[in-house]
Amino acid sequence: MSLTNFPGSANFSPLDPSITKVTIPALADMKRQGKLISALTAYDYATARLLDEAGIDLVLVGDSLAMVVMGQDNTLAVTVDEMLHHTRAVRRAIRRALVVADMPFGSYHGTVSDGVANAVRFVKEAGAEAVKVEGPRVALVHALTDAEIPVIGHLGLTPQSVHRMGGYRVQAKTADAVQQIKTNAKALEEAGAGVLVLEGIPREVAAEITAELTIPTNGIGAGPECDGQILVFHDMVNLSFAPKAKFARRYADAAELFRTAIEQYREDVEHRAFPADEESYHLSSAVKKEMQAERSSVQTIKHLRKA
Ligand code: KIV
Repeated sequence: MSLTNFPGSANFSPLDPSITKVTIPALADMKRQGKLISALTAYDYATARLLDEAGIDLVLVGDSLAMVVMGQDNTLAVTVDEMLHHTRAVRRAIRRALVVADMPFGSYHGTVSDGVANAVRFVKEAGAEAVKVEGPRVALVHALTDAEIPVIGHLGLTPQSVHRMGGYRVQAKTADAVQQIKTNAKALEEAGAGVLVLEGIPREVAAEITAELTIPTNGIGAGPECDGQILVFHDMVNLSFAPKAKFARRYADAAELFRTAIEQYREDVEHRAFPADEESYHLSSAVKKEMQAERSSVQTIKHLRKA
């Protein structure tokens, strides 16, 4: 085996001793040590780079990109090729965090071998270090684990099931449903899932699952007892153009920040206030002199011809 620098990044090396890469076993260690895991979504190089530099442990290229980046109504239409494109951009930015690609709707809902083949593409073609699948897809998680592809499970409010659920509703609210999600969580752990995302379930249920599993849970709308939290980046910085969900704390108002900057730019352009002289390139004085001399000699010739 030979390790080479990551393409496109001169200073990136998986062997860089100053960086302790986050891995699936490292996340399990964090749970054992009681250290909480921070996770966010990213879909592009710039955001992923900010997340990584800020020390976020896990970066998910979520299929939420269908909504927050592509403006679709739900997550169902995004394709494997689109997800690969964004995963590549994120991968190039990340040195420390675990890079997880979300398997889009339809890419693992047929046969297990089709699901594995699509997951292989995320690892091979985009550099993903794990994939995430929604629902209790125990056979698939088993097969992916056998294929050396780390898997993150996702239970509770699974957005790819929007039509079955009849909308985005909090799940596991009855005693039967609680029992079912606990059984599914255990089955995913036993099948080899490395992390379990718990979305939109009562805090008490997430707390019980978290206590019963040895793998870490990552909550989104699942209360503070999970082993870590994940949010959609655009929700936490107010860029999702959607009403704020109860669980999605807003840490910044990027919409306001960007809007003000964009409006100022437009005004500056309209009033020729941008660019200023110091934002412009200049000819050297030698070239200016040369051009001046040329202009003068042309004028002299014109003068002589008239005379
Ligand atoms: O696609 C996504 O952003 C997700 C997170 C909400 C966990 O699946």
